Amino acid sequence: MKPFLSIEKLTQRFPDGQGGQLTVFEDATFGVEKGEFVVILGHSGCGKSTIMNILAGLADPTSGVVVMDGQEVRGPSLDRGVVFQNYSLLPWLSTLKNVTFGVAARHPEWTKAQVTEHAVKYLGMVGLEGDVIHRKPSQLSGGMRQRVSIARAFANHPKLLLLDEPFGALDALTRGTIQDELLKIWGGTEQTVFMITHDIDEAILLADRILLMTNGPFARVAESVEITIPRPRSRTEIVEHPNYYAIRNHLVQFLGRRSKELAGQQTGTGETNRPETVRIDKAVPTDDPEDRRPTLRAVTN
Ligand SMILES: Nc1ncnc2c1ncn2[C@@H]1O[C@H](COP(=O)(O)OP(=O)(O)O)[C@@H](O)[C@H]1O
Ligand SMILES: [Mg+2]
Repeated sequence: MKPFLSIEKLTQRFPDGQGGQLTVFEDATFGVEKGEFVVILGHSGCGKSTIMNILAGLADPTSGVVVMDGQEVRGPSLDRGVVFQNYSLLPWLSTLKNVTFGVAARHPEWTKAQVTEHAVKYLGMVGLEGDVIHRKPSQLSGGMRQRVSIARAFANHPKLLLLDEPFGALDALTRGTIQDELLKIWGGTEQTVFMITHDIDEAILLADRILLMTNGPFARVAESVEITIPRPRSRTEIVEHPNYYAIRNHLVQFLGRRSKELAGQQTGTGETNRPETVRIDKAVPTDDPEDRRPTLRAVTN
């Protein structure tokens, strides 16, 4: 059976501006299960936003398909909520109206009071309450605006939430608070989340699985790293887990070295480029009592 979200042989080429072609990625193939929190990690320019825009239905790939819940993705839909780095709020509407706007479109049968109540609830979940919800986006701080865009996306109950570096512009403290809120809301709704970041610690804190992308052109989703740290996770406790540094080192190694070594390797058209599954679990005891090194098991599926 197909996974909830199935990315099948996705290829994206752009004109390179010099009469030739830039192949961002080729035949990328991977899946995301329902309720999973998947983070994609890779250097700037490897094609993360391009993948996200295709998943959102905002751009068409050169070839390949995306299937969500048995249906091919064509054009944007309220079933897929998107949060960008630059918030993309409607500046002429109040904070509250930025949220009710989509809710009313999603639930035409609801009364105005029901729509407002629902929006207020989601704004409350991200810590926006009282007079502040009647302010325009220009009267809010960057962190508050980002909370509005997260509340807006979640309030629509999309089947899939797409987050493109949503916390990139925030200071560390605000970022931490919003990460916690995101985890709380996600935990309570069983939505599927696909998120882009270049922050390794953010990725480990949030993800069930991290997809590692090599540098472009001809970028590949080379690995799918399972985050073998139980939930609920808190940023202060996960660093004490025996798997934390083993996973972190693996990710640092990949971004620092292997993303470049593996870059630009064309695997030949027609092949299906699937990521290798990597599971790092130090908690699993080995037969040899002398051997307490991390077990690194890589399997190809
Ligand atoms: N519309 C476009 N036309 C031409 N090139 C593009 C377009 N969009 C993205 N690119 C190129 O595709 C590559 C991947 O871009 P992007 O997906 O934004 O990377 P990332 O989000 O990983 O930083 C970059 O080299 C970028 O310049
Ligand atoms: Mg990007």
